[in-house]
Amino acid sequence: MTMPDHERLLIIDFGSQVTQLIARRLRELNIYCEIHPFQNVTDTFLDEFAPKAVIFSGGPASVIDDGSPRPPGSVFDRGVPILGICYGQQVMMQMLGGRVERGHGTAEFGRAYVTPQDRRIDLLNGWFIDGREQVWMSHGDHVSKIAPGFEVYGTSPNAPYAITADMDRHFYAVQFHPEVHHTPNGKTLYENFVRLAGFKGDWTMGAYREQAIEQIREQVGDGKVICALSGGVDSSVAAVLIHEAIGDQLTCVFVDHGLMRLNEAEEVVSMFREHYNLPLIHADESELFLSQLDGQSDPETKRKIIGRLFIEVFEKHAKEIGGADFLAQGTLYPDVIESVSFSGGPSVTIKSHHNVGGLPERMNMQLVEPLRELFKDEVRALGHELGLPASFIGRHPFPGPGLAIRCPGEITRDKLEILRKADAVYIDQIRKHGLYDEIWQAYVAILPVRTVGVMGDGRTYDHACALRAVTSVDGMTADYYPFSHEFLGETATRIINEVQGINRVTYDITSKPPGTIEWE
Ligand code: XMP
Repeated sequence: MTMPDHERLLIIDFGSQVTQLIARRLRELNIYCEIHPFQNVTDTFLDEFAPKAVIFSGGPASVIDDGSPRPPGSVFDRGVPILGICYGQQVMMQMLGGRVERGHGTAEFGRAYVTPQDRRIDLLNGWFIDGREQVWMSHGDHVSKIAPGFEVYGTSPNAPYAITADMDRHFYAVQFHPEVHHTPNGKTLYENFVRLAGFKGDWTMGAYREQAIEQIREQVGDGKVICALSGGVDSSVAAVLIHEAIGDQLTCVFVDHGLMRLNEAEEVVSMFREHYNLPLIHADESELFLSQLDGQSDPETKRKIIGRLFIEVFEKHAKEIGGADFLAQGTLYPDVIESVSFSGGPSVTIKSHHNVGGLPERMNMQLVEPLRELFKDEVRALGHELGLPASFIGRHPFPGPGLAIRCPGEITRDKLEILRKADAVYIDQIRKHGLYDEIWQAYVAILPVRTVGVMGDGRTYDHACALRAVTSVDGMTADYYPFSHEFLGETATRIINEVQGINRVTYDITSKPPGTIEWE
C-alpha cells in the first residue's frame, strides 16, 4: 500500500449507494480520505493505514442477520474517533453492547426532522439553530438500546437514537445520512467531526501537486514514460503533471483518428507543443481509421475497429521512439474504488479503467497513474493549479471513438464534415446562452436518413440531425437538458442556415436509462 504523506481518514464501506458522497464532503474540507470495503479492513490493514479517524458508512444489510458485515473489533481499540452512519451506527451499537431491532412500523425513508436533547456536544455546533434540523433517513432496522457509555443528543419521530455519542471514547453514531443533499447542513457535522479528531485539513491541490511530482520521480527514476494524450481533461492533466516531474523523459502520443471535432486536433497539438513544450507525436492516422471504417455500420464493429487500430498505432509510435518503461494513464479515484460484495469475499470486483483500452496488458509496461487518488473535480482543480486554461479544464467529456459513435450507420467523410460544422454551431449557441457549464455533455448526431425540405423556392433533400444535451453526475445516469423552446428554435434555424447538408433538426429527450448518452 502506498500511503500519501497526509493525515488520513478511513471510510469503511458497508455497501451504501452514497458512500462516495462521504468522501466528497471530506475532500471539500481538505481532508485526505480513502474508501475501503469492510472485507479488506483487517488488523494489518489498520496498522498500515494508520487512520487518524474512521467513518463507518451505511449499507443495505441488516446487522441482525447472521454473517452481516462487520469491521474488525480492534478498530474500537485504536483510540481514534469513529463516526457511524445508519448501518454504521447500528453495527457500532451491536458490537459495543447495544441492541438493534427490525423496523415493524419504525422504518423511515426520506426527509425527517431531528430535535436536540438538553445536553450539547461539539459535534453539533452550528446545528439546531431553529430548534430542529432536517435530515435524510433511510433505514428499516433501528437501534432499540444504545451501548454502554453512549448518550442521546438528538431524536426523530421514528429514531429515538438519531444522534448518539460516547464522549469519552469519541465515538459518534447517527441514524441519518449527513452526506446527502437532503441533509442540508450535513457538511457542518463532518466539519465538526474532523475538527474534533484533530485534523488540520492539509489536503490541498498545491500540496498534492508537490507530493505527486516527488512520487512520479521516485517511481520513474531515469526511465522513459509514454502517454496517450487524447486532449481530454484527465489525460491532459496527467501529462502536464508528469512533464513537470520528469521533463522530456515523457513523450506523448496524440492518436488522431480523423474523428475529432472541428479544429480540435490542431488546438490540442498546438496547446501542448507550444504552450507546454511537451514532446508530442501527432500521429495523424485518419486515413487508416477512415478507410478501415469504410462501409461499416454496426456500432460494435465500429468500436472494435477503432480500439484495435488505436492500439496498433500507439504501439507503432512507441517503437519508433525506442520503447518506454512506463505507460501514463489518467485513471481517477472512482475507477479504483473497490465495490462491496457480500458474497464475493475479499477478492471483490475492481472496476478497472482502461482509457487506452487494453494497452497496459498488451505492452507489458508499468503504469504511472498520478490521478488515482482524485475525484473529477479535484482533477479540474489540479489542472487549474498547473495553469491549464479554464475553458479547457471545463470541457465536456468526449468519447474515445469520437464522432464515429455520433454518426449512426456508415461513416463517410462528407457526413463527418457536416457533423463537425453542426456541432460547432450547437456548442457556440450553448456557450453564447451561458449554459455550457450546466450541461454534462452536449453534441450533435447526424442521422442516417435524408428528409425533404424547402429552402427559398427550392426543394432540399438533406440529412436530419439530433441535438443531445444531458445533465449527469458521473455519466452512469443522465437526464436530458430542458432547453427553452426559444433556444431550440434559434439553434435549429442557425444549423439549417449555416450548415449545408442538414435540413432538419430534432431534439433527443431520452434519459439514461433507458437510453445511453451517446447514440452508439
Ligand atoms: P454512454 O453512451 O454509455 O456514455 O451513456 C457514458 C459516458 O461515456 C462516454 N463514452 C466513452 N468514453 N470511450 C470513452 O472514453 C468510449 O468508448 C466511450 N463510450 C461512451 C460518453 O461520451 C459519456 O460521457
